[in-house]
Amino acid sequence: MLDFAIQTARDAGRLLAKRFGRKIEITNKSEIDLVTESDLASERLIIDRIKTYYPRHSILAEESGASEPHDRAAQIDWRWIIDPLDGTTNYAHGYPCFCVSIGLEHKGRLEIGVVYDPIRDEMFAAERGQGASLNGRRISVSRTMNLSAALLCTGFPYDVRQRNEFARHFANFIMAAQGVRRDGAAALDLAYVAAGRFDGFWEEGLKPWDVAAGSLIVEEAGGRVSNYQGGPLSIYSPPIMASNGLVHEQMMSVLQA
Ligand code: IPD
Ligand code: CA
Ligand code: CA
Repeated sequence: MLDFAIQTARDAGRLLAKRFGRKIEITNKSEIDLVTESDLASERLIIDRIKTYYPRHSILAEESGASEPHDRAAQIDWRWIIDPLDGTTNYAHGYPCFCVSIGLEHKGRLEIGVVYDPIRDEMFAAERGQGASLNGRRISVSRTMNLSAALLCTGFPYDVRQRNEFARHFANFIMAAQGVRRDGAAALDLAYVAAGRFDGFWEEGLKPWDVAAGSLIVEEAGGRVSNYQGGPLSIYSPPIMASNGLVHEQMMSVLQA
């Protein structure tokens, strides 16, 4: 199934890349939350593929929601969790930072995660217990020990204007870390933590499809994912903090300050 997820993410990513930069139809889901024709086309490709090869599996996809009502979905062991285009705002502005994210749960536990960046042709992948890879080569998190030497990343949720805490956290991290980035694609941010490019990531208000694949890839690369208190992450109830493990407690202290 990992090979299936990789192939599907690659094909969906290529579809996104082919349309990237062209004039496309954009609709607003809320004041600043967009959806483009490409989100929808990518999601259609992924769902059609899953329905063809795994017709009994359930699906949770950003644009079309859950394939079954909650009580029926609970009886199905396998669930695909899909973000067909993570980084839609970037995509719509022609900023080349976006990806496809596909996770697979078995009985509520993540087993497979793939995040594909078609612009750089980078495929991040993980299977539980088998480690994480980038284009087939093993990756691991960074060894940065101190927050003052760490490059961090975060994201601004679409309802950021209603979140008072966010600006305080952001300001505190700017003062504590070596640098803070905001790239605009949470699944890719997590993949970069796994690859050691970022030492840590935090964001509130994310959805299961933003973090399903990326959180498994971070763990399989030797990193740590949790909620802001250090407890286990539920992909269904953000916030999320992910790191190389070494700066995790220091990040928690900043969030609690
Ligand atoms: C968004 C991106 C962004 C994050 C937002 C997400 P979308 O996903 O991951 O980095 O800050 O919270 O909703 O809408 O581009 O799929
Ligand atoms: Ca997303
Ligand atoms: Ca999306």
